[in-house]
Amino acid sequence: MPLIRKLEHDDFKNLLTIETESFASGYSPYFIKMMPILFGNTSYISLKGHSSQGYVATALEQGSCRAWILSLAVRPKYRQLGLGKALLEMGLQALAAAGAGEVMLSVSPENQRAIALYEKMGFSICRKVSDYFGPGEDRIIMKKNLPEEKN
Ligand SMILES: CC(C)(COP(=O)(O)OP(=O)(O)OC[C@H]1O[C@@H](n2cnc3c(N)ncnc32)[C@H](O)[C@@H]1OP(=O)(O)O)[C@@H](O)C(=O)NCCC(=O)NCCS
Repeated sequence: MPLIRKLEHDDFKNLLTIETESFASGYSPYFIKMMPILFGNTSYISLKGHSSQGYVATALEQGSCRAWILSLAVRPKYRQLGLGKALLEMGLQALAAAGAGEVMLSVSPENQRAIALYEKMGFSICRKVSDYFGPGEDRIIMKKNLPEEKN
């Protein structure tokens, strides 16, 4: 059974392994190191024994009820087991508990498996932005409204 828990400060190597296996050009080591420190309250990692499986990083915009999915990745050997969905669900629950009203994300138009997952989780496409991350780096912006948390 995988364990899904919040990111901890010493998760750097776990996160780096997932990032390296999941993205051709992912986040810098510096940013990965900062993830648990800055976003640990709304970000999760999945572990099987000592092996990291996947993670989701999410954050609230400062002074806003809007949040972002910063990253979602599952190592290739652990894909299509429901981990991506489970991690995303945990991140969304934490964001709702932290007061987020809407959640945004950007995804490559070519990343059909991620788009399918996000649509299944209730995200809808807002717009497509050409050159979002520089020349040739188009992105689709997706959004999901979160239900208000009852106290
Ligand atoms: C996108 C990603 C996180 C999905 O993780 P996963 O653990 O394989 O996803 P799940 O097993 O939870 O699948 C959930 C849903 O995602 C979609 N999906 C996942 N893999 C898919 C595939 N190979 N083809 C089509 N749809 C797929 C399906 O809708 C699936 O639902 P279903 O099982 O009911 O059909 C994973 O493929 C990944 O890490 N990719 C590389 C990093 C990346 O692109 N991250 C997103 C950046 S925006």
